[in-house]
Amino acid sequence: MIVAGLMSGTSADGVDVAVVRLAGRRYRTRFELVAHCAFPYPVAVRAAVLKAMNAKSIAVDELARLNFLLAEIYADCVQQTQRQLGVTCELVGCHGQTIYHQGQATGYLGHHIACTLQIGDGSVLAARLGIPVVSDFRPADMAAGGLGAPLVPFLDLLVFRHPKRGRIVQNIGGIGNLTAIPAAAQTEQVRAFDTGPGNMVIDALCEKFFGLAFDDGGKLAAKGKVLDAVLTERMKHPFFQRKGPRTAGREEFGREYVREFLKQCGRRANKHDILATATALTARSIGDAVRRLAKTDRYHDLFVSGGGTRNLTLMEMIGREVAGLGIELQPTDAAGVPSQAKEAVAFAVLAYQTWHRKASNVPGATGADREVILGKVSYA
Ligand SMILES: Nc1ncnc2c1ncn2[C@@H]1O[C@H](COP(=O)(O)OP(=O)(O)O)[C@@H](O)[C@H]1O
Ligand SMILES: [Mg+2]
Repeated sequence: MIVAGLMSGTSADGVDVAVVRLAGRRYRTRFELVAHCAFPYPVAVRAAVLKAMNAKSIAVDELARLNFLLAEIYADCVQQTQRQLGVTCELVGCHGQTIYHQGQATGYLGHHIACTLQIGDGSVLAARLGIPVVSDFRPADMAAGGLGAPLVPFLDLLVFRHPKRGRIVQNIGGIGNLTAIPAAAQTEQVRAFDTGPGNMVIDALCEKFFGLAFDDGGKLAAKGKVLDAVLTERMKHPFFQRKGPRTAGREEFGREYVREFLKQCGRRANKHDILATATALTARSIGDAVRRLAKTDRYHDLFVSGGGTRNLTLMEMIGREVAGLGIELQPTDAAGVPSQAKEAVAFAVLAYQTWHRKASNVPGATGADREVILGKVSYA
């Protein structure tokens, strides 16, 4: 079966489409990436998405419109990909754009409520493409007591589980998250959690100081010096102390967080130093997570993926963080999954399971009570 996986992450940079050929089921699924295409959001769309994500309140009509608009944009992306490659997909797995995510339940009107919202309507997408779409993957895991994230560990198990080598698979998107797979791990032994900010704080500072969407290659951060006192202080954030499954988003590391970060750097701090410190924060939070994992299991490899791998300053800092642990750092490309396509591939693989009525959450990763079939199917 040929499936298109669509990912649009918290960076709100755009849409990744992975076309994947799949066979087998569950943990015996075999797949081959046919191609990967990336489509940046038009500037005004990105602004609308960021506004909705960061908003304390947004008009419901605007949110409803954005829900349908994103589906049209996703459809265009899939169509362009199909045309470019000369392939026809049979199914789409669409993550959607996360507008809000609260994995942990809190009191609300006399109930305990955890909730999440990914937009980009599946019915519209299915109608435009004329093929079925699986979307809205997270609620099923949350309804089973999970945090609804991360969902990529299913793919990570397929690709990275190794009989002799313990492996950590780190994605650096807007948020950083990892999957830890000890050597010869049973599915229950897999751990996964968000490590903290990925590119989110770096991007916000780049925008503010330099009017740039991101720090290309990490060149701007390379000119700065890390403010060690700020870094140490920032690592005391309660998020980093939390053990076990944990998720983060713009709720934790968005606009409000950046404001605090800047305040701590002080008025007179140099822009490049501030950026270097934000970059070091991502690296340190990954380093800390890896060190904590290495206390209980032996790990040999740290595979990295996502847009953050293009930030060479960040990569160098991560390398330094794990240097003493005897862990080899390399992009996921080395294991056959291109680092910029991985998340999109994951949603093709998850949609494929759902289409065949197979479960694909990893309870050890999300904290769910059981394995469940993820997502909702829209028929064309
Ligand atoms: N050439 C580059 N140099 C540095 N950072 C980059 C580069 N290209 C992309 N990025 C970073 O990667 C981010 C997008 O990564 P991605 O994996 O798509 O994240 P998400 O899943 O959150 O959308 C951008 O916002 C940017 O911070
Ligand atoms: Mg992206």
